[in-house]
Amino acid sequence: MENSIEYNGGENFDLREMLLRGRNLRLNEKVGLFESFIDDLNKQNVMLNMRCITTAADREVTILDRNGKKKNMLMFGSNNYLGLASHPYVREKAEEAIRKYGAGIGGPPLLNGYTILHRQLEERLAALKGAEDALIFSSGYGANVGLVSGLTNPNDVIIYDAFSHASFCDGIKMSEVKSFRFPHNNLNLLKLRLDQAANQTGSDVYVGVEGVYSMDGDTAPLDKIVPLCKSKGAILLVDDAHGTGVMGSRGRGTAEHYRVEGKIDITMGTFSKTFAATGAFVAASKPVVDYLRFFARSYMFSASLPPVSIAVVLAGLDVLESEPELINRLNDNTKYAAERLNSLGFNLNPQTPILPLRVPIGMDIRKAALKFHEKGIFVNSIEYPAVPVSQQRFRISIMATHTKEDINKLIEVIDEIWTSFKSSEKCAAKEFCYEAA
Ligand SMILES: Cc1ncc(COP(=O)(O)O)c(C=O)c1O
Repeated sequence: MENSIEYNGGENFDLREMLLRGRNLRLNEKVGLFESFIDDLNKQNVMLNMRCITTAADREVTILDRNGKKKNMLMFGSNNYLGLASHPYVREKAEEAIRKYGAGIGGPPLLNGYTILHRQLEERLAALKGAEDALIFSSGYGANVGLVSGLTNPNDVIIYDAFSHASFCDGIKMSEVKSFRFPHNNLNLLKLRLDQAANQTGSDVYVGVEGVYSMDGDTAPLDKIVPLCKSKGAILLVDDAHGTGVMGSRGRGTAEHYRVEGKIDITMGTFSKTFAATGAFVAASKPVVDYLRFFARSYMFSASLPPVSIAVVLAGLDVLESEPELINRLNDNTKYAAERLNSLGFNLNPQTPILPLRVPIGMDIRKAALKFHEKGIFVNSIEYPAVPVSQQRFRISIMATHTKEDINKLIEVIDEIWTSFKSSEKCAAKEFCYEAA
């Protein structure tokens, strides 16, 4: 395809620049410009997206590197927190489901895409969240979009945390609801917004927060937010994608952790994190669930998850009940990793297995990511424009199945990368080189 737009390349060209410039370009110009950008990353050898994994999602994986050679890597970038993806019982249940139900279902839930397994899972999830009922979506993205756009009216107000996931924000964009963002976890401003919204009559006020915020691994203080919403008559929506399965001593989620189980009006959770599958659910009162089945368009107009995916989540719930020690192991590993990092000068106080390592100003995140890769550590880098430049980070995800040796290796590589940066000219303020979120 002909590309008439010049790509100047360099460190200053990023996805945001691409997005801004692309808005005024025709398709062939836009995709040509993007192609040059990707080619440039490939030439610099720093293109680490879409690494091809050839093994099960475990604590160690094998990937194909750029030359097609196999490379073993320790996985510190997966949401498979409890290692359920390759748990023997989960595998066995998946095989059993395939044998009994075949590979797929071929339709949406309201028509032919609803099996006894789907119903069993809805009931188990409702019980897990202390709700009356639940419904299952094919993805977390679809659940948030369908939930927000399906429930709200144009006169309603939704007040939501500034760190909310893109799917929640897209749900707001798709609906006509009036929306207000409050600064992350700032309950004073949430209260102010709630007071302002209280003057509206004939409409509902919703509050949207996440149990665990995926970029920083911190939590919403639900013990304070629940009574605040109750006192203002607001309906609380909690996206507990990262909390379900790991938070609370039984893994029931962030509400269990904050001892407000059964008090959340509407909880959303995904199967793509702890359950290491795909799909999501919304748990709420029965009338809300019945309503969403017909008015959440991403539910009504999308094919159901195949029974094998449902069986995987059911098996994961069994494991949560039969092996509560997995959560303890995850917490111990997280504590150990944080202590080791803090002994190097970081300042982490993790509430969850997500450890954000802020990249100091001056450190080239792509080059540092390459170093991790070369040393056999698989981590995800969160770059601008996903976060502001000053908040670029590596997001380390700890798993219950990691060994102490795995974590020691991770720490050794982090120390090496940060020490080499610290001694470089680019590290202007040496004392900030270890600063973490
Ligand atoms: C907080 C949160 N909500 C929703 C989603 C979307 O879930 P899924 O990947 O299952 O579509 C994610 C996934 O990254 C998430 O982190």
